Amino acid sequence: MSMTSAAPHHAPVMPAEVLELLAPREDGLYVDCTVGLGGHTELLLAAGAGRVIGLDRDAAALARARARLASSPKNLLHADWPARVELVHADYRTLPQVLAERHITAIDGALADLGVSSMQLDDAERGFSFRNDGPLDMRMDASAGESLADRLADVDEGTLADVIFQYGEERHARRIARAIVAARGRQPLARTAELASVVRRAAGGGTWQRLDPATRTFQALRIWINGELEGLDLFLRSTVAALRAGGRLVVISFHSLEDRIAKHTFKALARPSDGSAPLGRVLTPKPLEPTEAERAGNPRSRSAKLRAMERVA
Ligand SMILES: C[S@@+](CC[C@H](N)C(=O)[O-])C[C@H]1O[C@@H](n2cnc3c(N)ncnc32)[C@H](O)[C@@H]1O
Repeated sequence: MSMTSAAPHHAPVMPAEVLELLAPREDGLYVDCTVGLGGHTELLLAAGAGRVIGLDRDAAALARARARLASSPKNLLHADWPARVELVHADYRTLPQVLAERHITAIDGALADLGVSSMQLDDAERGFSFRNDGPLDMRMDASAGESLADRLADVDEGTLADVIFQYGEERHARRIARAIVAARGRQPLARTAELASVVRRAAGGGTWQRLDPATRTFQALRIWINGELEGLDLFLRSTVAALRAGGRLVVISFHSLEDRIAKHTFKALARPSDGSAPLGRVLTPKPLEPTEAERAGNPRSRSAKLRAMERVA
């Protein structure tokens, strides 16, 4: 396992933009809906956020974030951090329950940095990687749901092709789905390397290609297995609803479908089609993107798009 490579050097994406938009205050309560390796949570606390509740569906990520916060050099300045941050193993789509259980009626800001973390990608044992062989799992929450190996064992070819086409924007989706179904007929697919070689053979293309031919299919299967787009709109709506007037929600996405959902949901909240009062106002008519300097220094940031909404009274 390559557990040592990612944190603590993992840099949070678009840190200046996030801080400017959330403008954390000493008397404020902020929710980091996707704690991951704790990069943004650390940033918010160091910038003076009074309290942060951090959620992640991945228990391993929370353990890493906890260790990062405890050993942060900035901890010298904020010896009271453990009292100011609560890390919760939860799906962000359950945020309304998480707040209700704590008798919290309004929050001052929220951040959702969507998608997969570098730790999840780098740790071969989690089964996300087409570069490093591991068990075919790919679940962000390893304690719930079915692994990719189980799902691939009985999915029908048409559904699989649709998943690869829609979530991966992969034009060879039908060919790849057919090849996966043929391969599993010979023997169950159990390892990421096996799947990657089936996909590469079906997708074709030479070594001159910039992207590994398995990239899009692995991305699609990850989104599918983790239900990443399901309930995203409802989550964004309920999070805006949980903000106090003037509070802000910042969403960072790495996939065009996620960004489209954020864009449409924010638009619908700012201009409800039934003529009711708007819940928020859009702060980013166009999504913000990382600066050239950030792109160069942090390759993970390259496809990031940031959108923000402010709750109105
Ligand atoms: C891009 S990483 C976040 C990185 C983090 N902002 C940082 O700076 O270290 C996304 C995280 O969101 C988590 N995640 C994805 N979907 C989730 C969901 N529905 N509920 C809670 N956490 C989720 C993943 O497990 C992953 O750890």
